[in-house]
Amino acid sequence: MSSLWGGRFESGPAEAMARLSLSTHFDWRLAPYDIAGSRAHARVLHAAGLLSDDELAGMQKALDELLADVESGAFTPVLEDEDVHTALERGLIERAGVDLGGKLRAGRSRNDQVATLFRMWLRDGARRVAAGVLDVVDALAAQSETNFGAVMPGRTHLQSAQPVLLSHHLLAHAHALLRDVDRLHDWDKRAAFSPYGSGALAGSSLGLDPAKVAADLGFYAPVENSIDGTASRDFAAEIAFVLAMISVNLSRIAEEIIIWTTAEFRFAVLDDAWSTGSSIMPQKKNPDVAELARGKSGRLIGNLAGLLATLKAQPLAYNRDLQEDKEPLFDSVEQLEILLPAFAGMVGTLKFDVSRMASLAPAGFTLATDIAEWLVRQGVPFRVAHEAAGACVRAAESRGVGLEDLTDAEFLAISPALTPEVRSVLTVEGSIASRNAHGGTAPSRVREQLDALVSRAAAA
Ligand code: ARG
Repeated sequence: MSSLWGGRFESGPAEAMARLSLSTHFDWRLAPYDIAGSRAHARVLHAAGLLSDDELAGMQKALDELLADVESGAFTPVLEDEDVHTALERGLIERAGVDLGGKLRAGRSRNDQVATLFRMWLRDGARRVAAGVLDVVDALAAQSETNFGAVMPGRTHLQSAQPVLLSHHLLAHAHALLRDVDRLHDWDKRAAFSPYGSGALAGSSLGLDPAKVAADLGFYAPVENSIDGTASRDFAAEIAFVLAMISVNLSRIAEEIIIWTTAEFRFAVLDDAWSTGSSIMPQKKNPDVAELARGKSGRLIGNLAGLLATLKAQPLAYNRDLQEDKEPLFDSVEQLEILLPAFAGMVGTLKFDVSRMASLAPAGFTLATDIAEWLVRQGVPFRVAHEAAGACVRAAESRGVGLEDLTDAEFLAISPALTPEVRSVLTVEGSIASRNAHGGTAPSRVREQLDALVSRAAAA
């Protein structure tokens, strides 16, 4: 088998060189996109008068056969092929003959091909990931609906902070994920430009129309600069970030689920279908989905960091280093495709122990801020109010009781402003209902928030 550059070389590559060079074991994923690119390229060669009507028809027929053989597995790459583009050119020539098949390479280079096909693969991958993320958003929204009204201790520093609605907490995660879906859509606006026609770096001299190829392949337009088209990979780094961000957002949910399902917390129980047992400890029910999510986030962060390091010192235009761009991105997309359905399944089937969460909602003096804010509404300066509420905590703590258990006399001894009416805010429900400004945890606000999120997710 001769390589793509036979003319200048007396010998073929050394075997170790060929092994180093080989990328078909991962870039074979690009094969259907390569063939779509070849079809579009054949059409512009035809439009430029470089292929006759018959030749175009023959080329398309050979490409049809090649695609069928790729899909059935009848055509596969061999060691000498180096990459997917080389293999498919061989496949085309085997089917169309060298006189016709050999014409397709005119006016294109693997440099513009690979940059285009990689964008195509990623655009499809981004759509699949966005759908998977939306399924997790849906699962969070469904749990928010099912458990609407349930309360829990909200935390900062993992310490009990203020009571909130469980739905409010779950929706916080949903908002972050919905922004990730927005990021995927935004990314597409920059990624949807076709490098085809950039050639090796300088563009084509053959009168081919890059706009026509771009439209054929579903891009908005061709790139403006052929050097940029072949050398830039910021589109890859940008989506690597978005994918890493998704994994980090999933990891934060995962961490909470891991904590919530401990015997100490018992806020939630995992469904059998989305947890695992232990080979030795019969009592165990392990949160493996959540742990794998947390673990994979490290991997996706690594994919982003590795790609940035690969890019950082490369001069323009194409360098072979760029072949290292694909594996991390294929991996990030494919790992999320595996993870997201399981994650949605785990979230959707989680059973919350809402009565336990409710009983713990006031624990740790989570209503102390309500005392301070009640005092402010009575005209007490916040500094003074904060002090007084702190003194209430100290008094309750020393007696081993809750804030609501302090006597009227104890309140009045701390501050004359602390009349018995303060008890109106010393319930979890009262506290939550009082936080009724936009974005707050009051049920009316969370209802608005949930409805708005569900319609945004449906439109995303
Ligand atoms: N397989 C290469 C890549 O993935 C494309 C080939 C370009 N090779 C070259 N020697 N110009 O980036």
